[in-house]
Amino acid sequence: MARGTSIRPNPYTPGAGDRPRALVGRSDQLALAESVRSQLESGYSVNSLIYVGLRGVGKTVLLKEVAERLARAGWYAPYLELRRGLAVDAALGAAADRFADQLRPGAKLTRRVNQLLRRGGGLQVLGNGANVGSGRPAPAYEDLARVLARLAEAAREDGLGVALIVDELQAVSLASLGALVHVAQELRDRLPFAFIGAGLPHLPSYIAKAATYTERFRYEPTDNLHDQEARAAVLEPAAAEGVRWDEDALAKVVTAAAGYPYFLQLFAFEAWEAASRADRNETIVLADVEAAEPIARRQIEAGIYGARFEGATETERKYLFAMSDLMEAEGDRVRSGGIARALSRQLSAVSPTRDALIRKGIIHAPEHGLLAFSIPGFQQYVARRRSDED
Ligand SMILES: Nc1ncnc2c1ncn2[C@@H]1O[C@H](COP(=O)(O)OP(=O)(O)O)[C@@H](O)[C@H]1O
Ligand SMILES: [Mg+2]
Repeated sequence: MARGTSIRPNPYTPGAGDRPRALVGRSDQLALAESVRSQLESGYSVNSLIYVGLRGVGKTVLLKEVAERLARAGWYAPYLELRRGLAVDAALGAAADRFADQLRPGAKLTRRVNQLLRRGGGLQVLGNGANVGSGRPAPAYEDLARVLARLAEAAREDGLGVALIVDELQAVSLASLGALVHVAQELRDRLPFAFIGAGLPHLPSYIAKAATYTERFRYEPTDNLHDQEARAAVLEPAAAEGVRWDEDALAKVVTAAAGYPYFLQLFAFEAWEAASRADRNETIVLADVEAAEPIARRQIEAGIYGARFEGATETERKYLFAMSDLMEAEGDRVRSGGIARALSRQLSAVSPTRDALIRKGIIHAPEHGLLAFSIPGFQQYVARRRSDED
């Protein structure tokens, strides 16, 4: 055991949208974005690219990486996170501000973005604001289409492109989503414009309700990491700091996290802290992971498990309890019909509850007719909450 001369900075990143030091297991997804760029730069059009996956798998991190790579290539590629009530024009304006000094000097696209900025606070040209979630988006979206078209026309002359990169697409009203998708489709047919987005797994069916263009979307799953990838996600950030993991310590983190990127970061982060407390800063050992586990679990319970459970209504909690009970008998995927039976209700009577839980990202349908909890370990948490209430 080496006595530490200095505390090394913790290289793990357990937090929403926090870029991991090693972005592992995403080469297919990044290659798709790269092919969008090369297709458009060569004058071909491309389908919109949408990453879908559960919360905590790394969609935001991925989108930001795509945005950064496109920006490095000279593109105008603002990243936006949607939420209800967000004014898209203001958000784009702020993005234009961030972009202005990254753009290629002398390019036509750069002059256009700067023109927009000079007109005051970015895309004020959009008038009343394209409010996502307000239910009445149409005129502002026409302005948005005009602004983006002007940028993309300039980009075409530079041999570059424009991408609108939009996170949390499932969070907006159907009307706003429909308008946004319409703008994207209209532009991608004639200009070097890409619409790249991300959302929860039910997004494809939600988009299908919002627009009729869905056949031209490329949905790309973003999943949990395989064992080898999970190991790399833990080892590489440490190696960059000159720190090793004992094999049994690594194996325990990988097992505890079950491939879920957020958990990998959290367990590795806390193990690193435990090692620092023990003045061990060359090798992380099993004892560190054992010390870290209850700390990480407490954070998970107070954080993502607790937030989801507290955010569920009384009816939704009953549904979660019934689902958890059924899982104890049948395993981690159960039929919605079985849950309805356990609640002594018709399937149609409980499906609004099921849909609300899907929209909240608490449960999802891994296959048609089957339901699962969306975070590893949540079933056990629900079972504990149930016995607390009994
Ligand atoms: N490819 C990856 N490898 C390792 N860790 C990752 C990876 N992608 C994301 N993470 C980590 O997972 C957590 C969740 O990432 P985030 O992008 O916020 O997920 P999502 O947007 O899907 O909810 C963060 O702590 C992040 O550092
Ligand atoms: Mg996210």
